[in-house]
Amino acid sequence: MSDERLSTAILGASGYIGQHFARLLADHPWFAPPTLVAGERSGGKTLAEVWQLAEAPPIELAAAPLRTLTAAAIARQGIRVVFSALPSGLAGPVESELTRRGVSVFSNAADHRRDPGVALLVPEVNAARLGGVGRPRPGHGLLVTNPNCSAAGLVVALAPIVRSLRPRSVHVTTYQALSGAGFPGVPSLSITDNVVPFIRDEEEKVERETALLLGRGRGSRVLPWKVPTVAQCARVATRDGHLEAVTIEAERRPSLDEILAAWRGFDPLGPRQLPTAPTPPVVLRGEPDRPQPLRDRWAGEPERARGMAVSVGRVRWSPPFLRFFLLAHNAVRGGAGGSVLNAELAVDEQLLPTRTP
Ligand SMILES: NC(=O)c1ccc[n+]([C@@H]2O[C@H](COP(=O)([O-])OP(=O)(O)OC[C@H]3O[C@@H](n4cnc5c(N)ncnc54)[C@H](OP(=O)(O)O)[C@@H]3O)[C@@H](O)[C@H]2O)c1
Repeated sequence: MSDERLSTAILGASGYIGQHFARLLADHPWFAPPTLVAGERSGGKTLAEVWQLAEAPPIELAAAPLRTLTAAAIARQGIRVVFSALPSGLAGPVESELTRRGVSVFSNAADHRRDPGVALLVPEVNAARLGGVGRPRPGHGLLVTNPNCSAAGLVVALAPIVRSLRPRSVHVTTYQALSGAGFPGVPSLSITDNVVPFIRDEEEKVERETALLLGRGRGSRVLPWKVPTVAQCARVATRDGHLEAVTIEAERRPSLDEILAAWRGFDPLGPRQLPTAPTPPVVLRGEPDRPQPLRDRWAGEPERARGMAVSVGRVRWSPPFLRFFLLAHNAVRGGAGGSVLNAELAVDEQLLPTRTP
């Protein structure tokens, strides 16, 4: 029986996001096991030799080689879908060349997030954006990006409640895990016994991308959400999972029950049955001391969607201020899992070929 799944590759497969891609794509029902692509440092090694995640590498890919391939070579091999975990700056030109060669790209890098013809996408929040961008030109591939890892969790928590609250402003303070900086990350002597109240460009990205994700699509462009989001970002010594303290100043005054019901009832992707979509996408925690990175980073069901749910807790409503904490896995919801879900939505929207030619 022939394998009708779409052929794929991971760019930056030896990095933190790349390894999460490998974990998610090793046995995906719609995408074939990926070709692994890395830079000069890891090229020639196997995935197992560079593996750094706490869980074991997927058996299907552990012995697979990391290859150094150009965009032209990837396209020549008939690969249809590329998941990009390249560093920003490097990613932009490679991703553009791949789409020009007919390969669709789902990227974690920031380079193309603001381009007019590119979808900055979180499927639960702005799925219609894919339709706004539309089908790529004949012979070209689709280019879809996921947002900054803190913005990804924030917009999933905000989307269900913004209509009933009508916010005047959103203030968010983040406590961001070390893995958000990739490998080898922050030097241990800079972060042990410490909190660093600075992550370069992070606050700007959270503010700008939240506005784009909650904005209104107009053709291939987006009218950004007008409500100001004000971010303060700190690096803390956790391994995975960004904790965020959110305060919304609201114009409207729904009851607390209405707000909680909006979160509980939120499941916009339910009918689509996308393999990596968590059900529900927002997990409400009633305990006084949750969410916590150690306990909630892997929230999300079914099994394939572990780490994709956003945990919300410590909800306090004293109008006009709604306060809560959220927790999202930066490398899954805010990284590789977000890209895989974007690609699943594109398949569901019939924007990708349904099978490898
Ligand atoms: N970490 C997160 O939580 C997170 C969340 C959302 C988005 N992102 C974004 O995702 C991307 C990847 O982040 P990361 O944390 O996974 O970074 P990382 O751990 O530093 O991995 C970078 C990857 O890029 C490869 N690479 C580096 N230079 C290269 C070159 N000149 N040619 C080809 N490949 C090269 C590396 O291969 P070698 O091993 O061969 O050097 C490695 O596989 C970045 O754009 C980042 O901003 C990260």
